[in-house]
Amino acid sequence: MITHLLSAADLDAATATQVLDTAGEMAHLADREVKKLPTLRGRTVVNLFYEDSTRTRTSFEVAAKRLSADVINFSAKGSSVSKGESLKDTALTLQAMGADAVVIRHEASGAPHRLASWIDGSVINAGDGTHEHPTQALLDAYTMRSRLGRLAGLHVVIVGDVLHSRVARSNVHLLHTLGAKVTLVAPPTLLPVGVGAWPAAVSYDLDSALSDADVVMMLRVQRERLSGSGRDSFFPSDREYSRRYGLDDARLRRMPGHAIVMHPGPMNRGVEITAEVADSARSTIVEQVGNGVSVRMAVLYLMLGGL
Ligand code: CP
Repeated sequence: MITHLLSAADLDAATATQVLDTAGEMAHLADREVKKLPTLRGRTVVNLFYEDSTRTRTSFEVAAKRLSADVINFSAKGSSVSKGESLKDTALTLQAMGADAVVIRHEASGAPHRLASWIDGSVINAGDGTHEHPTQALLDAYTMRSRLGRLAGLHVVIVGDVLHSRVARSNVHLLHTLGAKVTLVAPPTLLPVGVGAWPAAVSYDLDSALSDADVVMMLRVQRERLSGSGRDSFFPSDREYSRRYGLDDARLRRMPGHAIVMHPGPMNRGVEITAEVADSARSTIVEQVGNGVSVRMAVLYLMLGGL
């Protein structure tokens, strides 16, 4: 297993499959009365979050606790970061307290890479700026494989704000490694420069991409990243965005009967996805959150358990 998990591109097919298989074993634990394994007893996992999170932070905490690790939750808000302490000094402080692994979310792309060069323990990227979110891609792949039985040969359509999406980038890397075909669908203003070099097809037309999709993954419109640069320059209005790129009931009916709908959360209901679609039987959104615990247990177990 790898020492750090900074990018989904760090995972070759064998390692990624090992994580997914191990997550499948971890999932059985959730059905037991006592949901704990002693594997990481005496190890310390630090959750170092400089950016808000609901799903990722809580699922890493639950995952580490189910493996009997000690968990330190560190939030930049309310810490000495507000007095000007640097990431490096914060990291060295946490290392002095005996951190074996640091799970970091940071608004700056590349922060986990810097951290990995400063500390001895393992670093897991829990989302850095607009760059990557590798454990989200792993839990998404796990969910697809659980629902559809395979990953190789699947057609995964990823729709929306690709420009600001670390989830899209990590999914493209991992799905390509595991043999799925990816189509990115977005307005031209929400695609990054150089997207043509990604191992994915690109389309501006959602309706034409839906007919042979096995998975339709909707991305959150990242209002907080759009507002700084003038939202009007990306799309005219929420209503216009929904009309061209939103997933509603009519579009859901045009998807193949077996195809599933995914969203990493948090959602803007009524913008990129309607409430009816988000809550439909075709949606895996809540399942993805549950699978996140199993996948993060697998990552911690394989990275810290010495396998
Ligand atoms: N999908 C995801 O990263 O959600 P959070 O921001 O709530 O962690």
